[in-house]
Amino acid sequence: MTFSVTDLETQLIQLQTQALGAIAQSETLKDLEQLRVRFLGKKGELSKILGGMGKLDGATRPLIGKRANEVKTALTDGLEDKLKALQTAQLEAQLQADVLDVTMPGAYAPQGRQHPLNSTIDRLLDILVGLGYTVASGPEMESDYYNFESLNTPPDHPARDMQDTFYLPDGNLLRTHTSSVQIRYMEAHEPPLRVVAPGRVYRRDTVDATHSAVFHQIELLAVDQNLTFGDLKGTVKTFLKEIFGDLPIRFRASYFPFTEPSAEVDVQWQGKWLEVMGCGMVDPNVFKAVGYDPERYTGFAAGLGVERFAMVLHQMDDIRRLYGSDLRFLRQF
Ligand code: DAH
Repeated sequence: MTFSVTDLETQLIQLQTQALGAIAQSETLKDLEQLRVRFLGKKGELSKILGGMGKLDGATRPLIGKRANEVKTALTDGLEDKLKALQTAQLEAQLQADVLDVTMPGAYAPQGRQHPLNSTIDRLLDILVGLGYTVASGPEMESDYYNFESLNTPPDHPARDMQDTFYLPDGNLLRTHTSSVQIRYMEAHEPPLRVVAPGRVYRRDTVDATHSAVFHQIELLAVDQNLTFGDLKGTVKTFLKEIFGDLPIRFRASYFPFTEPSAEVDVQWQGKWLEVMGCGMVDPNVFKAVGYDPERYTGFAAGLGVERFAMVLHQMDDIRRLYGSDLRFLRQF
């Protein structure tokens, strides 16, 4: 269809060309919005042109009206397309800016850690549990009976001198060893049994590089029919190999009231033999104290010095470091 080019039509064509050009060149959403208002707004340029339509005659008016609608659609579409393009570009720029730089240093979060004594106890217990032992515990405040008498150490026994004891005003005492847990455990259980008991023990020792008035032991006890010193030795060797690897060890004959025969075990460390545990076959009198038949059952027991293990494992030469709160020291472990 052809019709004569009126002034208005020329203006419409120019408006469309100009507006689409401006839209194409706009770079921001704000620019685009301004263009929309400028061309299509209520008082915009298209409205202004259409304001002149009143003067047209009845035949031309619909043609110009149709043309105006086409321009309006073209501008609306142009604005729409450009809006989408700008939004996509903006999103892309944002994603680009937000990319996580994994080489940036992280935020520093101070971290706590286990005390070397606790981690040593955990390591030792892990191995012993792996060998089939159950973990038990007993009180630190003990009666003379559980700490000494039931362990074949009556009141005037010279072996009491081996462990200088803190006595409490009420006649009780602070346990000098975890061996007291042996008695409590056997009283409550029937053989066969395999049990280990970690805990704090107390002695009136003068504090120096290798002694402390409070220290830690792990008690070990196995009771069954036909257990022999060979079983004790095998267990101790397996355990020490697991914890110390190939460090040389030796069994040395010794004496404890609650075991017969008794031994002490040393590990060679920094050119010297260091005692790490006492052990032996449970004395029949100990079984009698808990009502086990010594003709039927045998057993072996050991007491491990936890601090000694910690010192060897961590190459420490002064036990007192373990009880200080020097974080420069503790943070090493
Ligand atoms: N209770 C002993 C001590 O503290 C260590 C010990 C030796 C424990 C021999 C035992 C053992 O169970 O059989 O010196």
